Amino acid sequence: MAKDAIVIKNLTKSFKELKVLEGIDMQIERGAIFALLGPNGAGKTTTIRILSTLLLPDSGEVTINGYDVVKQADQVRSIIGLTGQYAAIDEYLTGKENLEMMGHLYHLRSEDVKKRAVLLLEQFELTDAANRPAKTYSGGMRRRLDLAASLIASPPIIFLDEPTTGLDPRSRLVVWDTVKELAKEGITILLTTQYLEEADILADKIAVIDKGKVIAEGSSNELKQKVGKERLEFTIAKGSDFSQAVSVIQGEAQQSDVKARLISIATDGTVTEIQKVLTSIENANIQIEGLALHKPTLDDVFLKLTGHEAEKKEENHD
Ligand SMILES: Nc1ncnc2c1ncn2[C@@H]1O[C@H](COP(=O)(O)OP(=O)(O)O)[C@@H](O)[C@H]1O
Ligand SMILES: [Mg+2]
Repeated sequence: MAKDAIVIKNLTKSFKELKVLEGIDMQIERGAIFALLGPNGAGKTTTIRILSTLLLPDSGEVTINGYDVVKQADQVRSIIGLTGQYAAIDEYLTGKENLEMMGHLYHLRSEDVKKRAVLLLEQFELTDAANRPAKTYSGGMRRRLDLAASLIASPPIIFLDEPTTGLDPRSRLVVWDTVKELAKEGITILLTTQYLEEADILADKIAVIDKGKVIAEGSSNELKQKVGKERLEFTIAKGSDFSQAVSVIQGEAQQSDVKARLISIATDGTVTEIQKVLTSIENANIQIEGLALHKPTLDDVFLKLTGHEAEKKEENHD
């Protein structure tokens, strides 16, 4: 089999005059976790819908394990699992029934479905809630059930469209752990997210998408290097001499603001490097009131790459 599980070439899609995808190219390696990172309206869900055969492209070529998403849609469907941005769970069925229904949709044998459902409920910590209607589940539990449902047919490739948007921090961690587990089992995972942190923690490779174009691609470290380093920022106490602090806190790309009593330097963020700066501050007897480490955010990536901020509201397409 080819090295890449997913190959996308010059993919375009418009809705009437609205150009949503303007020539997307991506290769996703087998067994990788690949994150499509972009703000609301960037074209993430549209891409996932085309890849999962729910929507036809205007032009371009997409193959999943060598199968063409247009000409071999049935084969594609048999090897993918999809978890939507909005959980596709039947509220009135129990967790177990939801999984069994999904198994029957995939034409799995009844006994196999039953066994697989038990296993998945266990894996997603839903065994205790298995016989309760899904409407009694918390947001995090629903998301886990949705994820479990997409895995009922043991697909080698899964698409997760914003799997943690709107989740509380604890549920987000559970989903992250699950995704990592799936990757360990060799499943290829394409997920979309608006959060750099999520892409950072999970993804082997990230494509940043904005207005229907891939504007950057690479590992999280490669992307961060484009954005610039983290910054270590000190607030100098009133009792200490600010200009002395400026000369003591030396580092790359130093910035200072005497009014706000802030001094910052670029850093790799390693404990050793931070410790070194702290030691020199202590040795010079300078008092600090605050210490902060600013990591590059998605907004920083966008600002750097596009010259505009990632828009949070529904953007205007003109
Ligand atoms: N069926 C549709 N008809 C018209 N416009 C659509 C449709 N689906 C998506 N869009 C528009 O396409 C753009 C990209 O949407 P989408 O792919 O959902 O972005 P994302 O998932 O990155 O937030 C948005 O401007 C959205 O309003
Ligand atoms: Mg979306």
